[in-house]
Amino acid sequence: MNFIDFEAIHFPVIRSWLGSERDVVQWGGPDLSYPITDDQLEQMIIDGQTVPPKRLSWMAVNDSQVLAGHIQLAMDWKNGVARIGRVIVAPKMRGQGLAKPLLAAGLERAFSHPEIQRTELNVYSWNSAAIRTYNKVGFEHEGVRRSSAKVGDERWDTAIMSMLRSEWEAGLPK
Ligand SMILES: CC(C)(COP(=O)(O)OP(=O)(O)OC[C@H]1O[C@@H](n2cnc3c(N)ncnc32)[C@H](O)[C@@H]1OP(=O)(O)O)[C@@H](O)C(=O)NCCC(=O)NCCS
Repeated sequence: MNFIDFEAIHFPVIRSWLGSERDVVQWGGPDLSYPITDDQLEQMIIDGQTVPPKRLSWMAVNDSQVLAGHIQLAMDWKNGVARIGRVIVAPKMRGQGLAKPLLAAGLERAFSHPEIQRTELNVYSWNSAAIRTYNKVGFEHEGVRRSSAKVGDERWDTAIMSMLRSEWEAGLPK
């Protein structure tokens, strides 16, 4: 899985992967709204242009250069924490085990910065495909923020998972 910088030419592709409010919040959290606009996506790129960057965003391409996914790191430089987010695999390419190499490459990028000692992520408790993936990669489940997101008439629980630098250095599960 190779990464290329997230750019405006990718906006229509991301938009085509997010067909409902549910999809948008599942992917990007309750602060994003549906339909996802160019302004919302542009802000992610602008956050990558600060010094140091607040956010790093990539499209993932497979060996045939097909756009296969997306991932971001929200960087808390002061505390040495990178929050992995906005993880998605192209809907037609799901179920082929692409999420694991996508996350492995994201972790590699996060820990390439010596300041970063911890990676973490938020995932809705019902999102078993994502939680299975994060467990397979070796993330630790830390706890649940109950009833923390409002989506339409529903309230969702948010699970918090993490991986420390020492755990990453010990190697990801095979
Ligand atoms: C979560 C996600 C990234 C996993 O990507 P993936 O490449 O499909 O992952 P995998 O192929 O490793 O499959 C993971 C699990 O998805 C489930 N799955 C299998 N086939 C699937 C399919 N066709 N469609 C959806 N899910 C499928 C399986 O339960 C699988 O777990 P298992 O292999 O232990 O049985 C992907 O489902 C996705 O993009 N979801 C929408 C966005 C999202 O929820 N992002 C996470 C935000 S925290």
